Order: sequence, then C-alpha cells, then structure tokens
Amino acid sequence: MILKAPIAIGLSPNTENDDVWQAIKIIFQPWMWQEGDAIKKVLEWFKNYFNFDEAFLFNSGRSALYVVLKSFGIDKGDEVLVQAFTCVAVPDPVIWTGAKPIFVDIDETLNIDPGLLEKHINRKTKVIIVQHTFGIPAQIELIKKIAQKYNLILIEDCAHSLGAEVYGKKVGTFGDAVIFSFGRDKVISSVFGGMASINSKFKTQCLQLKKLQGNLNFPGYFWILQQLLHPIFFVIILPLYNLIVGKLFLAILIKLRILTKPIFKEEMNGFKPDVFPAKYPNALAVLLLNQLTKLQHYNNIRIKLASYYFDKLKETKNIILPVQVDGGIYLRFNIQLPNSEEILLTAKKQGILLGNWYKNIVDPKYVDYKKIGYYLDSCPKAELSAKSSVNLPTYPKLSISDLEKIVKLLT
Ligand SMILES: Cc1ncc(COP(=O)(O)O)c(C=O)c1O
Repeated sequence: MILKAPIAIGLSPNTENDDVWQAIKIIFQPWMWQEGDAIKKVLEWFKNYFNFDEAFLFNSGRSALYVVLKSFGIDKGDEVLVQAFTCVAVPDPVIWTGAKPIFVDIDETLNIDPGLLEKHINRKTKVIIVQHTFGIPAQIELIKKIAQKYNLILIEDCAHSLGAEVYGKKVGTFGDAVIFSFGRDKVISSVFGGMASINSKFKTQCLQLKKLQGNLNFPGYFWILQQLLHPIFFVIILPLYNLIVGKLFLAILIKLRILTKPIFKEEMNGFKPDVFPAKYPNALAVLLLNQLTKLQHYNNIRIKLASYYFDKLKETKNIILPVQVDGGIYLRFNIQLPNSEEILLTAKKQGILLGNWYKNIVDPKYVDYKKIGYYLDSCPKAELSAKSSVNLPTYPKLSISDLEKIVKLLT
C-alpha cells in the first residue's frame, strides 16, 4: 500500500523533495548555520525584486514588525491601527513596544476598511498596519491618502502577499515600511523567517533599523536545528497524518522539543518569547533561496486554482466567495458560509484538512482578547467573517482529483 499525503493546507504545504534535500545538506554543515552567503543572496533577491535600497532579515515576520515599530520610535502611549480578523503575530509586536493596538473592522477584501480609519484616529495614533490578507490586496491607495492626511506611518504587512500586485505595482511598495514572513505556511517558506525594509526617505529610521538589526543575535544552534528538522520530519509525517500514528508522531516530536510550534504559548497573552527578535540564520536562508526560485511558479498555480474555485463555486448557494481581483495571489481561497464548522468537520472526517486561519477574530484559538485589547462586538464584520470562514487550499502540490474532492464537498 502506498500512503499519499492528505490534502492539508496547514502542514507546511510548500515543502517539496528538493526543499527536504536542501535541509539535509545544510544540516551536515553546522559551520554555515548562522552566518554565510545565502543571507546576502536572499537580500540581493529582495532588493532587486522590489527595488529596495536596503532590507534586513529576521527570524520571523513578527520580529521584523517589532523592530520596524521600534525604528520609528513607537512606544508607550502610542496607538497603532491594525485590522481585526488577523493573527496575534500582528498586534503582539505592537504590545511588545509598549504601544496599544487598536482594532479596526474589515471591508469585503477582508483587509482594514479605509472608510473606518478616521473614526479611530486621534492624537495618540502613530501607525497604520495594512495586511493584504490571504494575498488579496487591501485598498492601499485610499489608506495611503488617509495616512498622509494625518501624518501617520504606513506599514504594509506582506506576510500573505509576496508577489501580489495592485494598480500595476507590487504590494509592499506603497507603504513607508514593509514586512514579510517566511513562516511554514506562507507564500514561500523556510519554517521561520521574516524581512523588513523602510523607505529610504526616512533616513534616521533606516539607520535605526540597521542598528537595531545589527545588534541582534543569531538564534542558537538548537533552535536552528529544530527548524531544519521540520521539513525532514514532515515528509515522513505527512503520509501518515491521517492515521493515528502520524498525528501521534508529530505530537511527540513537539513535546520532546524536536520540532517547534509556529506560535508560542505566551504570545496568546501578549508576551514576547525570548527567541524574538533575532537575526535570520544562514541555514534558513539556504532553504529560502530554493523556495525563491519557485515563487512565480507557486503564485501562478495559486491564481490558476483560485480561478478554478471561482468557476466551480460561483453558482453554489450560501457561499460568499473572496473578491476576484487581478494581481491577487490567493495564498488561501477563503470562502464564507453559514455552516463553516460543519464543513471543516465533514472534510476532516474524509481526511481533508481545510484551513481555519482567522476562525477566531484574532487567531489562534487561545488568544486572550482582553490582554491584546480586542473588545467583543467592536468589529462586527470581522466577527462574522471569523465565524463563517473556511480556507480552501491553493498550494502547489494539489492534484485535480484533490480539487474535485473539495468542490464536491461544498456543492
Ligand atoms: C498577517 C500576518 N502578519 C504577520 C505574521 C507574522 O509572521 P511570522 O509568523 O513570520 O512571525 C503573520 C503570521 O502568521 C500573519 O498572518
């Protein structure tokens, strides 16, 4: 019997055999784990792709966001506008600076609603963070105008949207600063990783970013090893995942701290894990370089699969489809439906693991809303979206029969 990996949106969906091979090779070269050429090559790639003067690498997107906020001097007493319907990794870095995240409701793109921004702006407001959720661009031109009107810093969070475009320009080139994530289920992955760039017109802040990043340490060898083991173990775990043994094996590896979870327990309460912020280790840059060669291919597939879903689901009653925009990369194809929980469960029973990103207004499940400053009923659209969302996969390894199975489940 040949075991096939299940449809599983959240289990490192970008990892392919060549990525595993890269991890195996670098694991035997520990002298190259912290510093090395791959870091420079990743930076060169980003500078060329976006035409950035400078860019800086971190061990996660949240580290990048935290250091960017610090570079702009964000501190106690400041307020930062973020959207509800997000991951705790967005408001947490704001809290770590001492500032307060203020949650704003979303529009039909599932991004921060520009029409609601002015209502939340006061003397304490310093920053707007715009995320292009699921790879669909926000109404960035409108948001930028408001930021300029009130002299606010605009940070683009491109954790979901590397390669997406809007108004003929790449997202990430509109804001005063930008951050990316290379987490395990992002557009491209090196298990953990992030990048930041500040527009060169902010000279002092650019220098500050350089200084703060330069003063960081590399993560320790054990942490790097944990991340390198991730793709290697996942090729073994995935085909077994729908059997008890696969889930058990993964749970044991996490319990024994051989693998790490993407979010740490203390982050649910707004606290900062010690491992953030840190520099991006060369070993992970090696993994990322390999993924970068596949970026365009991955995004082409995502766009193609999204158009498949648009076509097959357009007549289906009770399903709200995501907005259809040129330039969106549909990292996840998020649909909204009244019986979302039931669909997730029925799919799971059939061995299909659909996505549950943002099933909580601020994900994941055990986030303490009080501690991160979210007040229930304050963002009704985000709350409804959280309740009704199911993310369909668009990752590169899906087959036509996988897609047919998913569509059948919904129609
Ligand atoms: C919208 C968004 N921004 C930022 C982040 C933080 O990225 P990282 O996991 O690399 O810290 C995430 C992480 O899940 C995210 O979903």
